[in-house]
Amino acid sequence: MMRILAFESSCDETAAAVLERKDGKITVLSDIVASQVAIHAKFGGVVPEIASRAHSEAISGITYEALEKANCTMDDIDAIAVTSNPGLIGALLVAVNFAKSLAYSYNKPLIPVNHIKGHIAANYICHPELKPPFIGFVASGGHTSVVRVEGYRDHTLIGGTRDDAMGESFDKVGRVMGMPYPGGAAMDKLAYEGKNPMKFPSAAIRDDSLDFSFSGIKTAVLNTLNQMQQKGEEIPRADIAAGFTEAAVSSVVIKLGMTFDRTPDMKTLVIAGGVAANSHLRTALEKFTQKRGIALYMPDRSLCGDNASMIGAAAFFEWDAGNLADVTLNAYAYSV
Ligand code: KG4
Ligand code: ZN
Repeated sequence: MMRILAFESSCDETAAAVLERKDGKITVLSDIVASQVAIHAKFGGVVPEIASRAHSEAISGITYEALEKANCTMDDIDAIAVTSNPGLIGALLVAVNFAKSLAYSYNKPLIPVNHIKGHIAANYICHPELKPPFIGFVASGGHTSVVRVEGYRDHTLIGGTRDDAMGESFDKVGRVMGMPYPGGAAMDKLAYEGKNPMKFPSAAIRDDSLDFSFSGIKTAVLNTLNQMQQKGEEIPRADIAAGFTEAAVSSVVIKLGMTFDRTPDMKTLVIAGGVAANSHLRTALEKFTQKRGIALYMPDRSLCGDNASMIGAAAFFEWDAGNLADVTLNAYAYSV
């Protein structure tokens, strides 16, 4: 039996969790997320310096809370895990330095975790039977990645975004339609009311790559909105939300179709990240995988957005591989 205390502070959620692994099964004993959404909403997006300060204020409190809820003291913890990359550098550094200090003072091993691997690992909590190899699709406010997952730690990026991330585009479109940051979840709901979805260009780049470009479809929406506003026309918000969602989701289906055509050995799709909570995307990928006879795994909605449980889950596999850090651990804005 092994217990991990995990931390996450790469963007705008300060999170701590305690996880236990017994006979290979991972259980979440506590999962605390202090969200900064209300703070950043005033600015319409994440302000990095404010995020770092808010992480510093929250991290001690949520650590006590996570231990208490798990009915643990530091004596019951075997290792400490922390997101060390990628993310906002000032934000990452808060949990990295906190975890380093804690590991040093309690003489516990320290496990660095990649945030994208963490998102994917949320699925190992929700689906204990899931094992690599599989194709991973991670979409959040900061990333849009198609990943070939050969082993728990063996991830190869085979497709990505050339500009905006998928979640970022939902948030930007939501913002111009008057939704508070982040608009993704509100767009999800509003799209159901759009009976005549507007047509927008695809985010699937028209070439052999598995890449996306979400800035084009975002700009198309903004232009449409501006033109209608100038003419004094009523904005069909729901039809715009539905059309944007349709264009974004169908782009993902196109690129994942190409991915599976090229990797016939892969029979499983795993999705993760904040945008994996999108119900239109979930439904479209259910259809896509059923048609192709591919297995689909999605995390529970509560584990799609940033949290520390997913970091703890990924940390067990880093531990198995002996990937430990010491007090020289640094944070990186890019993926390492
Ligand atoms: O994974 P996450 O919490 O943070 C990052 O690592 O970026 O993802 C947050 C993103 C935001 O852009 C948010 O609007 C989006 O995920 N999101 C959604 C939904 N729920 C969250 N996007 C579309 N539909 C949703 N239901
Ligand atoms: Zn994330």
